[in-house]
Parts: sequence; structure tokens; C-alpha cells
Amino acid sequence: NNMFSEMVGEEHGLLRKEVDDLKEEIKKAHENIHRAKNEGKMGFMELPFTQKEVVEEIRSLANELKGKFDNFVVLGIGGSALGNIALQTALNDPYYNYKSEARDNRPRLFVPDNVDPARFKSLLETLDLKRTIFNVISKSGSTAETMSQFLIARKAVAEEVGEENVSRHFIATTSQDSGYLIKIAKREGFKTFYIPENVGGRFSVLTPVGLVSAAFCGIDIEELLAGAAYMDEICRTENVWENPAYLNGVLQYLAYKKGKPLSVMMPYVHALKDVADWYRQLWAESLGKKVDREGNVVNVGPTPIKALGATDQHSQVQLYMEGPYDKVITFLEVKDYGAEVEIPGSYKDIEGVSYLGGHTLNELIQTEKRATELALTKNGRLNCTITLPEVNEFTMGQLLYMFELQTALVGELLNINAFNQPGVELGKHYTYGVLGRNGYEDKKEEYFNRPEK
Ligand code: PA5
Repeated sequence: NNMFSEMVGEEHGLLRKEVDDLKEEIKKAHENIHRAKNEGKMGFMELPFTQKEVVEEIRSLANELKGKFDNFVVLGIGGSALGNIALQTALNDPYYNYKSEARDNRPRLFVPDNVDPARFKSLLETLDLKRTIFNVISKSGSTAETMSQFLIARKAVAEEVGEENVSRHFIATTSQDSGYLIKIAKREGFKTFYIPENVGGRFSVLTPVGLVSAAFCGIDIEELLAGAAYMDEICRTENVWENPAYLNGVLQYLAYKKGKPLSVMMPYVHALKDVADWYRQLWAESLGKKVDREGNVVNVGPTPIKALGATDQHSQVQLYMEGPYDKVITFLEVKDYGAEVEIPGSYKDIEGVSYLGGHTLNELIQTEKRATELALTKNGRLNCTITLPEVNEFTMGQLLYMFELQTALVGELLNINAFNQPGVELGKHYTYGVLGRNGYEDKKEEYFNRPEK
């Protein structure tokens, strides 16, 4: 609006016209997305509508095992882990793992998402393995980190409960027809859930990848999918002004094109902190690409950054406010935090503290967000805000789906394939070679002949 452009100035702001000028590109992107969807290549867009049976299966397993396990551990990495964390942080009590009344006989959740030896060892030592169930998640069924976690956990569980009881403690979530995990799961008799072939890891939070741990921890997975379905419905139009996923995507795209390669997501709601982490992977792996669809070297991609309000006002905001004009900031805010905390009016004679009395933490954090927004705008720093009425299953389903669709759109606008990740392969292949996996001998040689520092 006028106030905004007066404050920001054309040099750094975006004009409505710039969005309108992209109408033809958006139309083409929209057609490409829907053509790919009709050809069965946009699996994430089918998920809100095609999982009735699997949702039932997950829910009945979670109910059947309620009270039988104290701990649920997700073994997985990247797209096979981050959605689990995002859902848990958003939708369960912040201290769920420590509060039995918040869990109501459901298991605690642990998602190590790494192979740090000290952390993984400590986790297995901390948990009572007799009362622990693991969901081993790997779409490819061969990821070194996940399979190593599994091999270690399986051995530890077998030592604790005996070989004959191992299968009770593991679920495998993987491709139905390919990879090694499905072979192992069948041999062991593990309960299995499948990741549809046409859904990539970072787009898989609304498959059993994210839904199983969510259901075990009491999250209403049907509502999550209903929220995603609702967002899908309102995003069917190619009119960018009526399609929130497209509008946000286009604003991000324009910001990137206009010299703002850094895209910060900054929730002012602690519950959404790990959504920013999940989004960081979605955005980075999908949009950071060397070649375009025609094979030209383009080396594109915005760099996603996660921040947290109000915490990072005391860490990052100085840079966002006065550093280079290279960022666009996306705030996430919520109208209703689901709790209100009043600040007591103590120390009446010390005005510099007592003025806080009678206000609430809600007012404080909301005012801080708006004050930061205003100050950034005054300083000519691009920012936008996504507002949720509250954080619940329905709004989370909407938000996650919106970001996925937005990513597909920006992939189209950048003319790259948003659904592959060739850039992470080379590093993996060196690792395979060094650890002795067949077929990677040349990589091993290259690794050991690498130039001295
Ligand atoms: O988005 C992706 O494809 C990746 O981040 C994967 O999720 C990650 O590499 C783990 O892969 P997998 O599920 O095959 O073990």
C-alpha cells in the first residue's frame, strides 16, 4: 500500500505492478503444476485426499499400542525426520516429553536426526529399550545415517529384549517396492508403512513419515490432512491475489530476483520454530540448483535462514535492520497463543520495570513483532507476515501444504526441477566409497588422493 511504499521506497520495495507483470509466467507455472499433477508427478498434492485407509491403519496401531511404550524414536534424517519434529513442536505441549499429564499415557518422542556418536549413545542409554518403539524412516531404504542408527538400535534392543521380541519394537516406513529397508522389514516381520513413490522426502510430512509419530503422540492426523485439503482448495486458482501459496511464492521470487537472496523465516510463536527448520530444508534442497530444465548452468536458489522472535531480536535483528539489503523476512504470527500470562505489577517505585505490570506476555511478544516489522519497513527491509488464528492441526496442515505448493511454484518460475537433489549425491558417494560399499571404489580412490590442504 501507499504507506508501505513511501516508507520503503521503490529502491527496495515491491510494487503491486511487479506481481501483476508476472501474470503470464504464473499462468504457465500453474498449468505446468496441474499438468504434472494430472500425470501423477505431484504426489504431495494427492496426499490430503488419498490416505483414508492409511490414516485408519495408523490410528488403530497408535491406539492399540497406547500405554505399551514410553518412548517413540524416529530413526531418519532430512525429509524423513524434520516434519516429525515440526509437528511435535507445533502441536504438543512444549514440555510434552517431561509432563506425564500432557502425554496421557502416550510415548515421549525423540528424533535424533543425526549420527553424532555421543548423542546417539546417550539416547540409547537413557531410554528403557523394553518400553521403546522405533520408526525407521527412509524412502530410499539405504541412507547411511538412518541405516546405521537402525543397526545400532536393533542390536541394543535385541540385547535388552531378546531376538525373539525385536520385531515388536520396530516399524519401517519406506518405499513399498525398492530399497533395502523394505527387504529387512519383511525378513524381520516389522510393521510397515509406505511412502508413495511420487512423494519426495522433503514433501513427505503428510505421509506416514510424519503421520505415524504424530498419531502416537496424540495429534489428530485427520485434521492435519483436512487443513491441507482446505489449502489445496483455495490454491486452485491461478489468480495470484487469491492464492496464498502463489502470492507468497511470487513475492519471494521477486525479492530473490531483485537482489535479496537471503530469505529469513522468523516465527514469533515458539510452536512454529521447527516449521522454520522444516521449511529451510524444503526451500534449500528444492530450489538450490545448478542447472535449469534445459540443462543450462544457472546456479540459482534463495538461501533460507531460520530465526525466532523475540529471541533473535537479541541476536540477528541488528543485522537484518542495518546490514546489507540482501534479505526478505517472513514473519509467522498467531492471534491466539492458547495461553495468556499476565506480568505482575511489582516494584512500583522502579518505573523502568513496573511499567510492564498489568500487561501480558502475549502483548509483549505481539508488540515486539509489530515493532520489529515497523522498524524493518522504515529501514527499507522487505518483510511480510503470515498470520494463523491459532496453531492447531487444521492450520498446520494448511501451512505445510501452502509452503509445499509455494515451493513447486517457485521451482517453475526459476525453471528448475524442484524435486531432485543431485547436489547431495557426490558427498554421499565419497562416504560410501570410504566405508567400503561396493560400486564406489573410484570415489574411495578420489577421496584418498584428495589435494592436501
Ligand atoms: O528431501 C529429500 O529427499 C532428502 O532430504 C531425504 O529426505 C533424506 O536424504 C533422507 O532420505 P531417505 O528417506 O531416502 O533416507
